[in-house]
Amino acid sequence: MLKALERVIDPELQRPVTELDMVRGIEIDDGIVALEIVLTIAGCPLRQSFEQQVEQALADVPGVRGVRLSFGVMTPEERQRLTTKLRGAAPNDDRKIRLSRDTRVIAVASGKGGVGKSSLSANLAVAFSRLGRRVGVLDADIYGHSIPHVLGIHQKPVAVDQMIVPPVKDGLKLMSIGFFLEGNEPVMWRGPMLHRALEQFLTDVHWGDLDVLVVDMPPGTGDVSISLGQLLPRAEVVVVTTPQKLAQDVASRAAAMARKTNMRLLGVIENMSGGVFGSGGGEGLAADLDVPLLGTVPLDPALRECGDAGEAVVASRPGSESAQAILAIAEAIDARREAGGIVKSLPLVG
Ligand SMILES: Nc1ncnc2c1ncn2[C@@H]1O[C@H](COP(=O)(O)OP(=O)(O)OP(=O)(O)O)[C@@H](O)[C@H]1O
Ligand SMILES: [Mg+2]
Repeated sequence: MLKALERVIDPELQRPVTELDMVRGIEIDDGIVALEIVLTIAGCPLRQSFEQQVEQALADVPGVRGVRLSFGVMTPEERQRLTTKLRGAAPNDDRKIRLSRDTRVIAVASGKGGVGKSSLSANLAVAFSRLGRRVGVLDADIYGHSIPHVLGIHQKPVAVDQMIVPPVKDGLKLMSIGFFLEGNEPVMWRGPMLHRALEQFLTDVHWGDLDVLVVDMPPGTGDVSISLGQLLPRAEVVVVTTPQKLAQDVASRAAAMARKTNMRLLGVIENMSGGVFGSGGGEGLAADLDVPLLGTVPLDPALRECGDAGEAVVASRPGSESAQAILAIAEAIDARREAGGIVKSLPLVG
């Protein structure tokens, strides 16, 4: 039975329940298997997923006619053992960034607001997971947090002791300040608090093994960019601009900021291309900055409609023009993945 239960994966922690020591009291009586799964917290919203998975896993075992699954809750000691297991022996408050060294951090930045950072962050993240990467999204736009909405993730993170377990949807992990606020309450924080919040997102959140962490940055060149540069000096930055000349000038300030904080500039994405905004700003900016133009995403009603509906266009309408463009950009960024952070030039996308 335990062998079969190895296939049951905790949806949030993304490890087998057997490895997480969550299975109790297996009893078999005339083909009926009774067992208990102990959850990290009582109100765990994921019971249904466990029910389905356990049923499926045990259905394949010869002789099993039925399953009686009950749920329990871990004792504080058991929780403690679990966090130790997940984190290694590191103390809870060492303030160490708990991202693997192999995790690529890609920050999506812009000079001004409303150019499509959040839409692109969310869609790039989905695109990376379609390429088979393990992906997390960090909504670092603390004032304008919008990723939970764009991705339709409203489940709250779960706190297990000092560790915050991010909600997962379609394999994508997400952390946003939006999860911790009631309704549409505004955030009014000064620099040090912003810094502390970001730090916490990187130290207390159990990201697990990620290939890519996409960071949705707030617009402009403020405190968050400085903090992120300090906390994640190996971050790579993608600058988003709209096609107009003015946007291009503003975006170049964000790029300069990224460079000052030691983040590497990966390239430029021109968004909302075509129609009223014209085109060419991205190319101009890329030339100014001497980085590649990673791609051009057309102004496309499909993207906005999906965003409003809480879906990523890349997932729900992959054939649309904007989804195609974003998928191509994700592939270009992904292809450039390499160890040691050596900058390799990217092919230009016309
Ligand atoms: N290529 C596009 N085609 C059509 N609509 C788009 C496109 N890109 C973004 N949008 C829409 O533009 C609006 C702003 O986008 P988004 O919220 O992603 O921008 P942002 O840069 O994150 O804004 P902020 O600076 O406020 O955080 C959204 O309604 C989004 O759906
Ligand atoms: Mg945004």
